[in-house]
Amino acid sequence: MKSATASSKERTGIGEPIRVLVADDDDHLLKVVSRELRDKGYECVTEHDGAAALKAFGERGFDVALLDLEMPEIDGFQVLAALQRDHPDTISIVLTGAGDIPRAVKAMKLGAFDFLEKPCNPHLLESAIRRAAEYRRAQRHAQQMEAEANESRSALQLERALSQSQKLESVGRLAAGIAHEINTPTQYVGDNIEFLQIAYESIVRLLGVFRQIVDADGSVAPELVAEAKDLIATANLEYLMTQIPRAIEQSLEGVERISSIVQAMKEFSHPGTAEKTFADLNHCIRSTVTVSRNEWKYVADLESDLDGVLPPVCCLPGELNQVFLNLIVNAAHAIGEVVGDGATQKGKITIGSRQDGDWVEVRIADTGSGIPENIREHIFDPFFTTKDVGRGTGQGLAIARNVVVDKHGGTITFDTRTGAGTTFIIRLPIEAQK
Ligand SMILES: Nc1ncnc2c1ncn2[C@@H]1O[C@H](COP(=O)(O)OP(=O)(O)O)[C@@H](O)[C@H]1O
Ligand SMILES: [Mg+2]
Repeated sequence: MKSATASSKERTGIGEPIRVLVADDDDHLLKVVSRELRDKGYECVTEHDGAAALKAFGERGFDVALLDLEMPEIDGFQVLAALQRDHPDTISIVLTGAGDIPRAVKAMKLGAFDFLEKPCNPHLLESAIRRAAEYRRAQRHAQQMEAEANESRSALQLERALSQSQKLESVGRLAAGIAHEINTPTQYVGDNIEFLQIAYESIVRLLGVFRQIVDADGSVAPELVAEAKDLIATANLEYLMTQIPRAIEQSLEGVERISSIVQAMKEFSHPGTAEKTFADLNHCIRSTVTVSRNEWKYVADLESDLDGVLPPVCCLPGELNQVFLNLIVNAAHAIGEVVGDGATQKGKITIGSRQDGDWVEVRIADTGSGIPENIREHIFDPFFTTKDVGRGTGQGLAIARNVVVDKHGGTITFDTRTGAGTTFIIRLPIEAQK
């Protein structure tokens, strides 16, 4: 026997005719009723007894069952109970003897939708079936809506999971580069502090002698002055006085650099808000450029041409960071194809932003390989990639398209020339779209 859900799923088409099964041991009634129903546009199947009715249900579902309560062997009550259990979406109407209210009540308690007294008044029959059909149609409609809602919910969940996993993946990937990026300033901060430590020791020694000179109150022993002169010479005081401020300055710069990388990484990996907020896209671009530095710096120089008076854009900044990252990494890969590993001649990535009326436009251009003509129409497809496993997953542009177009009502297009390079153009409405 088919399960209730399987059979109801097949039958949820709203426009399909309502299917009625009539079970009665009275041949004459079956004939009259089935003719009546078919005339009214219902699909109708008749059976002589309860067992045959249940078998018919097992083979194909029905929307409405019209059941005689009194049938040999398996009677209407038993059929009704089985339908309630195995085909709960079916609407059952029972046929009772004239005036047999107690049995009608019992059937209603068992879950019958309605009852009709025999002999059937065609008029009452038609209106009972019509009500049942209307109810069933409404039920089908609700089921369809629910199925659609579930479908779009799971598509949305999948999409979220994909974009979240791509984000985690890129955070993981960037982490190695970030560690490297942080390592360089950390090293020179360390070197500078070591120098300051040595310089401080020389100065302390010098100060010790000066103090003795001051304490001597005018009667300074000439050896002391000689010692001071000696110390000044060995400590290379001139050198210290120019180098100490430089070391301090460089250390501060290094710390500043480290903290800006950490800040950018924090911003980049932030789970982001579900609600749009007004954000400075230039800031998003800068922090994405910072966290991705290790991905492009070996193959390209990066130039930014950001509009200094760009208005804040109502957006999901975390998701746009991901888009910028995907495009920057793609640009670096495309340049890498041209300049090769261990590049002596670097390519160039240019990132520009500008306002255009109610829109903000961000352009990410590269001097890479360009996009071959035969794949141009596929690059936004999920999982389309021309890269080796580990280098590409084909999700970057699909996610970019989803974020820019679906979530922001913007556009993402590209301009490409084989062998010369590619420019991706993102346009976003400044005010949020519905
Ligand atoms: N800037 C670009 N220059 C040349 N080809 C590109 C560029 N950006 C994307 N592509 C092409 O589009 C494909 C899909 O890109 P994407 O969705 O980011 O996936 P992936 O980078 O993982 O391959 C890439 O494999 C590449 O062939
Ligand atoms: Mg990519």
